[in-house]
Amino acid sequence: MAAFTLSLVSAGQNPSGLPDIGRTLVSARSFDEYVAMFALTDEDMSRSILDCPGGAASFAAEAHARGMSVVAVDPVYAAPAQWLAEHAVAEAVRGNRHTGSSVDSFVWTFFTDITDHLNRRTAAAATFGRDLAARPSTYVAGSLPRLPFRNASFDIVLSSHLLFMYADRLDQEFHVAAACEMARVARREVRVFPLISDAGTDTGELVDAVRDGVTARGCTTAIRPSPYEFQKGGDEMLVIVVPET
Ligand SMILES: C[S@@+](CC[C@H](N)C(=O)[O-])C[C@H]1O[C@@H](n2cnc3c(N)ncnc32)[C@H](O)[C@@H]1O
Repeated sequence: MAAFTLSLVSAGQNPSGLPDIGRTLVSARSFDEYVAMFALTDEDMSRSILDCPGGAASFAAEAHARGMSVVAVDPVYAAPAQWLAEHAVAEAVRGNRHTGSSVDSFVWTFFTDITDHLNRRTAAAATFGRDLAARPSTYVAGSLPRLPFRNASFDIVLSSHLLFMYADRLDQEFHVAAACEMARVARREVRVFPLISDAGTDTGELVDAVRDGVTARGCTTAIRPSPYEFQKGGDEMLVIVVPET
């Protein structure tokens, strides 16, 4: 069995049917994707929001254009802005190739096809790059599980495509510590999407461990359906409600 697993890995295959993503992608989801993934309501969007990790998403940029208050945090923001703007677009292309190598692993409702995916993700990356140059203070360099913010700094923390998604390289201890840290900087709630891994590994135990970890800190949790499903099976979010202080 071990030799079989090893040969799967060396052949670049995962149980999900997707090839190995390689280094953690700095992906570029759009405002519309965030609204759909996290089922954001008008009331949610009137709150102060932390995008953690922001990656090359255009959520903060597009939110600002709508008068919203969004800060993004990611370790990659320590990089020079010009390099990062170019890297964001290159990563959108890399992510599109990854998706295109296994189109049947995805649900083609949000995106019409692989070309639409490329166009929308590169557009989001370009929007991110322009906003990074125009409003650098929105993009804070920082890493989970230790964020550079005071307790209860934001009403809502949104976390897309880091926890659970990279369960092949981020262990249980990291997941629990990262969720507790996001709850620390949130005044109201944390939403994490999706609850599946890119590699197709079972994330059930990890989700349970994260729920137990934040519950021990006084939070309550729920798993809620998301109206957005792109990677097959990725149609739920974890909602962590922070106790009032
Ligand atoms: C797949 S991207 C998701 C970006 C964005 N949320 C989106 O959905 O498009 C994952 C991001 O996690 C960031 N990352 C990696 N390790 C991290 C850590 N320890 N803490 C916070 N972010 C991290 C990477 O730099 C990368 O930008």
